[in-house]
Amino acid sequence: MPLKLAGVATVGSLLLCVAISLFHIAGAEDPYRFFNWNITYGDIYPLGVRQTGILINGQFPGPDIHSVTNDNLIINVFNSLDEPFLLSWNGIQQRRNSFEDGVFGTTCPIPAGKNFTYILQVKDQIGTFYYFPSLAFHKAAGGFGGIRILSRPRIPVPFPDPAGDYTVLIGDWYKSNHTTLKARLDRGKKLPFPDGILINGRGPNGVSFNVEQGKTYRLRISNVGLQHSLNFRIQNHKMKLVEVEGTHTLQTMYSSLDVHVGQSYSVLVTADQPAQDYYIVVSTRFSYKVLTTTGVLRYSNSAGPVSGPPPGGPTIQIDWSLNQARSIRTNLTASGPRPNPQGSYHYGMINTTKTIILTPLLSSPITSKSPVFSAPEAYLTDPLAAAFTLTHLCYKLTTEILSRLSSKTTRTSFRATILMATLSLSLVWMGDNGQLLAGTSTISEMQLHVAPHRYTPFHGLLFILPLTMWECGT
Ligand SMILES: *[C@@H]1O[C@H](CO)[C@@H](O)[C@H](O)[C@H]1NC(C)=O
Ligand SMILES: *[C@@H]1O[C@H](CO)[C@@H](O)[C@H](O)[C@H]1NC(C)=O
Ligand SMILES: *[C@@H]1O[C@H](CO)[C@@H](O)[C@H](O)[C@H]1NC(C)=O
Ligand SMILES: *[C@@H]1O[C@H](CO)[C@@H](O)[C@H](O)[C@H]1NC(C)=O
Ligand SMILES: *[C@@H]1O[C@H](CO)[C@@H](O)[C@H](O)[C@H]1NC(C)=O
Repeated sequence: MPLKLAGVATVGSLLLCVAISLFHIAGAEDPYRFFNWNITYGDIYPLGVRQTGILINGQFPGPDIHSVTNDNLIINVFNSLDEPFLLSWNGIQQRRNSFEDGVFGTTCPIPAGKNFTYILQVKDQIGTFYYFPSLAFHKAAGGFGGIRILSRPRIPVPFPDPAGDYTVLIGDWYKSNHTTLKARLDRGKKLPFPDGILINGRGPNGVSFNVEQGKTYRLRISNVGLQHSLNFRIQNHKMKLVEVEGTHTLQTMYSSLDVHVGQSYSVLVTADQPAQDYYIVVSTRFSYKVLTTTGVLRYSNSAGPVSGPPPGGPTIQIDWSLNQARSIRTNLTASGPRPNPQGSYHYGMINTTKTIILTPLLSSPITSKSPVFSAPEAYLTDPLAAAFTLTHLCYKLTTEILSRLSSKTTRTSFRATILMATLSLSLVWMGDNGQLLAGTSTISEMQLHVAPHRYTPFHGLLFILPLTMWECGT
């Protein structure tokens, strides 16, 4: 008997050893990056007056995280504040790892005086993102910073290596501290109009980006603010949009870009103007008063300081913003995080169909003969646009379904199947007086931010489409 037990134990340890070594072999490919962060209060003067900011290792904004696709990020965060603190990683997918996402309800706050180690893998992702504190309105005091995930060396990036790569964190800012702002919201009041806009934690002309004439630079612009959509532009320079939150886009030139709260865009800017300093301008959108701040694009051989009025931009025009968002398209032939183009399918070669069949299980039928919504073909060939279309579809569907539900039907479940060429997508949701269940993908979230006024009530829709595409691959 003891012998037998020993045998079992040996086999067991052997298996364990094999399992461990397999794990090690599998894990060996993906490098680890370690971070030790100390979160403290500290004095900051972004608008010229002393404020209590939230610093990471003494920095405001916090340090950038530089990584490469599939890297493991081990971030040990010491909370030296006097209240719980939590960091969230905006746009990082956290595959099978949702408990590291850092929002209340998913991840426990780090108690005051304690530390917690986030273990993230930026699995199958590229692009520009940022982190921010997700509790207690701490975001109004700092604690945010850029995250960049570079492509692995063997994966082609659809543009030449830029001469420089800058993180540009823009956001509205208040002189009131986060406890005061939070208390105001808790009393049911709106946020006041902001006191300023910051670029990388600095007020007007507080930040400059150095460029050499003739070279091209990448700017990674994220709106880390609290509530205002912002327009970003550079005097006399155009911007070539190349990436939106991990998706390479068709490379289109823009003279200004709307960046809504939570969004991240990468643009290429070529220093192709006479050598001097130029204004970088960020201004509020859709606000009754336009708040503007400036930074400086400084040529290394600059002949003089910024001159002339800073260029104006759009102010209240909503259509302008929606049209700009619609003009952004995925580059279907460019690589994504994997060597094959943006996923595993050659989307551009799939013939699409407009057929949308809706099969409600428990309600008056909505059939293909009475389509609630018919998507233009162009939208269905592009995953980014498809996500947008689906958002719109859900909006239409929900409105339609709710209007068709008789008042006696209080609880209904639907399954809508959308046939799109060889791809079959499912949207599943439950309606209980219009209450929708589920979560969103990153792409649809991004598009939801595009028109917050229209889509906010539907923030909870589940899109299996983008998830399916990301799961597939070589
Ligand atoms: C964090 O910073 C504070 C203030 O400088 C210091 O007292 C504390 O020891 C630091 N903690 C860690 C873990 O470095
Ligand atoms: C806290 O930090 C210490 C020292 O770096 C580390 O050994 C420990 O694992 C950390 N604890 C957590 C919960 O991350
Ligand atoms: C899309 O990506 C391909 C592959 O890198 C590139 O050659 C092409 O120029 C890009 N197209 C646009 C319109 O940006
Ligand atoms: C915020 O400001 C209020 C009023 O000035 C002050 O009582 C409070 O201690 C401040 N909070 C922080 C975290 O600095
Ligand atoms: C798409 O349709 C065209 C025209 O009917 C056909 O020639 C082509 O083979 C189709 N492509 C696929 C992938 O089915």
